[in-house]
Amino acid sequence: MHILGISGSLRKESWNTAALRAVQELLPPDHNLTIAEIGDLPLINQDLERDGKFPAPVERLRAEILAADALIFATPEYNASIPAPLKNAIDWASRPANVFAGKPAAIIGVSGGLLGTARGQYPLRQTLGVLNVQLLGQPEVFIGGGGQKFAGGKLTDQGTIDFLGKMLQTFLVFAARVKIG
Ligand SMILES: Cc1cc2nc3c(=O)[nH]c(=O)nc-3n(C[C@H](O)[C@H](O)[C@H](O)COP(=O)(O)O)c2cc1C
Repeated sequence: MHILGISGSLRKESWNTAALRAVQELLPPDHNLTIAEIGDLPLINQDLERDGKFPAPVERLRAEILAADALIFATPEYNASIPAPLKNAIDWASRPANVFAGKPAAIIGVSGGLLGTARGQYPLRQTLGVLNVQLLGQPEVFIGGGGQKFAGGKLTDQGTIDFLGKMLQTFLVFAARVKIG
């Protein structure tokens, strides 16, 4: 199974991107995860659409989503909601034809505080649900206290690594069931 990881943070030392790299290491041998680039997308603007064609970075992201069997979103919350770069990427991918339709997906998130991005993940669930993304309900992955769990761009907390591994086992079964096409 080919999984596309989408991080809501553009930060080089992002804990959320590091969590996606941890997932890469936890995947069984016949699965792989690549991490999408979303930092070079222009801001969503319908004037940039030409006869159903999009700017090159948008076309690239849309093709990557189409080619993926499943998606994993890893995102911080910004002001209790979806970070703007991630919402921008989702909005581009949603333009006709919505490339998210039917894709199985999981959401994880890392923050410095106790809430572990819960306030960002619920609006993200709402948006992705409208786009017919098939979201894993449980387990939810709210990783708080990121400052104690990541070092040097790597997830170092063994309890969190074990929990991500359990989530992945559930997600891979779920994704295989709902995968279309
Ligand atoms: C604009 C902005 C808004 C933020 N709002 C929140 C917030 O509402 N709740 C929170 O827990 N952290 C908030 N943060 C802090 C981020 O969660 C923190 O920077 C975290 O490291 C982001 O994840 P990353 O390491 O993947 O970049 C905010 C950060 C920024 C830049």
